[in-house]
Amino acid sequence: NNNLSGSIPPEVANLSKLETWHFNNNQLSGPFPNESSPLRNLQSLWMFDNYIEGLFPEFIANFTNLTDLRIYGMKLQGPIPKQFSNLINLKYLMLGDLDGANSTIDFIPDSANLSILSLRKCGIVGQFPSTPPTLPNLTYLDLRSNNLSGQLQLLLPYKSSRYLYAGDNDFSGRLPAEFVQPSLALDISYNPFINGLLPNNPTDRKLSLNYIGTAIDTSRAINSENLTLLNCLHMKECNRKYYTS
Ligand SMILES: *[C@@H]1O[C@H](CO)[C@@H](O)[C@H](O)[C@H]1NC(C)=O
Ligand SMILES: *[C@@H]1O[C@H](CO)[C@@H](O)[C@H](O)[C@H]1NC(C)=O
Ligand SMILES: *[C@@H]1O[C@H](CO)[C@@H](O)[C@H](O)[C@H]1NC(C)=O
Ligand SMILES: *[C@@H]1O[C@H](CO)[C@@H](O)[C@H](O)[C@H]1NC(C)=O
Ligand SMILES: *[C@@H]1O[C@H](CO)[C@@H](O)[C@H](O)[C@H]1NC(C)=O
Ligand SMILES: *[C@@H]1O[C@H](CO)[C@@H](O)[C@H](O)[C@H]1NC(C)=O
Ligand SMILES: *[C@@H]1O[C@H](CO)[C@@H](O)[C@H](O)[C@H]1NC(C)=O
Ligand SMILES: *[C@@H]1O[C@H](CO)[C@@H](O)[C@H](O)[C@H]1NC(C)=O
Ligand SMILES: *[C@@H]1O[C@H](CO)[C@@H](O)[C@H](O)[C@H]1NC(C)=O
Repeated sequence: NNNLSGSIPPEVANLSKLETWHFNNNQLSGPFPNESSPLRNLQSLWMFDNYIEGLFPEFIANFTNLTDLRIYGMKLQGPIPKQFSNLINLKYLMLGDLDGANSTIDFIPDSANLSILSLRKCGIVGQFPSTPPTLPNLTYLDLRSNNLSGQLQLLLPYKSSRYLYAGDNDFSGRLPAEFVQPSLALDISYNPFINGLLPNNPTDRKLSLNYIGTAIDTSRAINSENLTLLNCLHMKECNRKYYTS
C-alpha cells in the first residue's frame, strides 16, 4: 500500500528465507521475475493491484508452504497452471482478472484448510467436475464471471459455505432447494439456463438472494416480508447494484 513503481528486482532471488511477501496496491510493473522461483519458504504472497504482466507464473506451484495466495487486479495472462493443485496447505486462494485465459478447473487443490476460494474472472472454461474438489472448510466460494457450465447442483458439496457466488457463468438446471437458506448468501445471476421455483415465502430477513437474468419463478415468494428485493426480482427491474448483495 505505497506508491512503489518500477519492476521487481531480480535480487529477490537471495531472500530465500522469506515467508511473508506483500507488495499489493502499488504501481509495480514488468513481469513477476523467475528469479523469485527459489522463494519456496513463502507462506503468504500478496501481489494484487499492481501492473505486473506476462504469463501467470507457473513456478508459484512449487511454493508448497503457501497458506495465503492473492493474485488479482493486474495484467497477467492465464491459464492458471494445473500444478497449483500441489498447494494443499492453502487457507486463502484469491485469483482473478486474468486475460486470455481458458483455464480448466482442475488446478484447485484438495485442501482441508481452504476457507476462502475466490476465482473471479479467471477465464475458467468447461464443465464443473462431477467429482468436485474436496473442500470441507470452505466458507467463501466466488466463481463469478467465468465460463463454467454444468448443472448448478454440482455445487451442492459447498452448500454449507456462507457465500456461494456463481453469477455470470453458463450453469444450468434447476435451483436446488438446499441453496435457499438464510445462512447462505447466493448469487446465481446471469446464468441463462438456470430455472426452477423459489420456495414458499422465504420470510427470513437475512436471506440474501440474487437470481437476476435467470428463469426462476418467484411468484410464490412475492408476498414475503423482504418485498423490495423480491419485487424487483419478480418484476425484472433489478440492476447491477444488487450484484454483490
Ligand atoms: C505515485 O507515483 C506516480 C509516478 O510513479 C506519480 O505520478 C504520482 O503522483 C504518485 N502519487 C503519489 C500520491 O505520490
Ligand atoms: C545473491 O547474493 C550473492 C552473494 O551475496 C551475490 O553474488 C549475487 O549476485 C546475489 N544474487 C542476486 C540475484 O542479487
Ligand atoms: C529465468 O529465465 C531465464 C530465461 O528464460 C533463464 O535463463 C534462467 O535460468 C531462469 N532463472 C531461474 C531462476 O529459473
Ligand atoms: C515448509 O514448511 C516446513 C514445515 O514448517 C519446513 O520444514 C520447510 O523447511 C518449509 N519450506 C519448504 C521449502 O518446504
Ligand atoms: C518445480 O520444482 C521442480 C522440482 O524441483 C522442478 O523440476 C520444476 O522445474 C519446478 N517448476 C517450475 C515451474 O519452476
Ligand atoms: C490446517 O491448519 C492448521 C492450523 O494452522 C494446521 O495445524 C494443520 O496442519 C492444517 N492442515 C492441513 C491439512 O493443512
Ligand atoms: C479459448 O477457447 C476458445 C474456444 O475454444 C478459443 O476460441 C480461444 O481462442 C481460446 N483462447 C485462448 C487464449 O486460448
Ligand atoms: C477450519 O477453519 C477453522 C477456522 O475457520 C479452523 O479453526 C479449523 O482448524 C479448520 N479445520 C480444518 C479441518 O482445517
Ligand atoms: C465465455 O463466454 C462469453 C459470453 O458467453 C463468450 O463471449 C466467450 O467467448 C466465452 N469464452 C470462452 C473462452 O469460451
